[in-house]
Amino acid sequence: MDPSKDNPLLRFATFWWGLGTFLVFALLLAVIMFFNSSGPISLEDAPAKVRYETKAKTDAAQSSAVSIEAIQSVTDVVAKTLVASKPIAVESPSQIVPGSATSKKLASAPAVDTKAMDSASSASDAPIDPAVLAVGKAQFVVCGACHGQNGEGGAIAPPLAGSEWVKGPISNLIKIQLRGLNGPISVAGKEYNFPGGMAALSYQTDEQIASVLTYVRNSFGNKGSAVKPEQVAALRGEVGKPQVTAGELIKP
Ligand code: HEC
Repeated sequence: MDPSKDNPLLRFATFWWGLGTFLVFALLLAVIMFFNSSGPISLEDAPAKVRYETKAKTDAAQSSAVSIEAIQSVTDVVAKTLVASKPIAVESPSQIVPGSATSKKLASAPAVDTKAMDSASSASDAPIDPAVLAVGKAQFVVCGACHGQNGEGGAIAPPLAGSEWVKGPISNLIKIQLRGLNGPISVAGKEYNFPGGMAALSYQTDEQIASVLTYVRNSFGNKGSAVKPEQVAALRGEVGKPQVTAGELIKP
């Protein structure tokens, strides 16, 4: 028998080699499947798994929580109270909206006597807190848009540098900021009357207004006492009144 040619013995050996190889791979596959028994996770299964877990937790929490009747009995009471309640006037100074009922009520209150405030301020030579100046400087960006970032004045507003109004009574400055200003106004010997004048900037808090005015009074070559938040608060009733005019202010 020629071993290199087709013969029954060769066929027999080839058959068993083939079967053996098949079985080896089948066994390998079986072993892999045995150790990798958790099912394959698709892209959709991954988030779904979290959803099912969350739902199970929510269900568990809800079943142990307050009953729907108990919740309804409370919401009924709250709803009835809300309907029957009257709005409370906003009294916090920084929240007063110009033209609102609160603003009108405050505006109709007798004018605050600013004499004490102004004379105390002009007599004070207390050092200026650098932290207040820092807050004021940040707030001044708004003023600087019109008055120039160095208070030099320009095409739309008079200068703050060297202005007698800035160095003068603080109640003037507080009123100008809370009500805005309608010209004409003379600043450092020059007459100004810009169309529309200056709009009120009363949205700033008492602290911010006090700081920005203190900053203006102590920058660009100006020198003046600090303005205190309480002094701004005392004049919040001015908010909502028409733009102040130079004639209404104390002559600096
Ligand atoms: C939208 C532009 C504008 C902004 C912003 C503005 N002002 Fe004025 N301000 C004016 C104008 C205009 C006048 C003069 C009024 C007029 O001509 O009718 C004026 C006048 C003044 C005066 C009196 C005159 C003088 O030059 O001394 C003071 C003080 C003043 N502003 C302070 C401030 C401060 C403080 C701020 C920021 C908190 C501020 N202004 C923001 C436009 C502005």
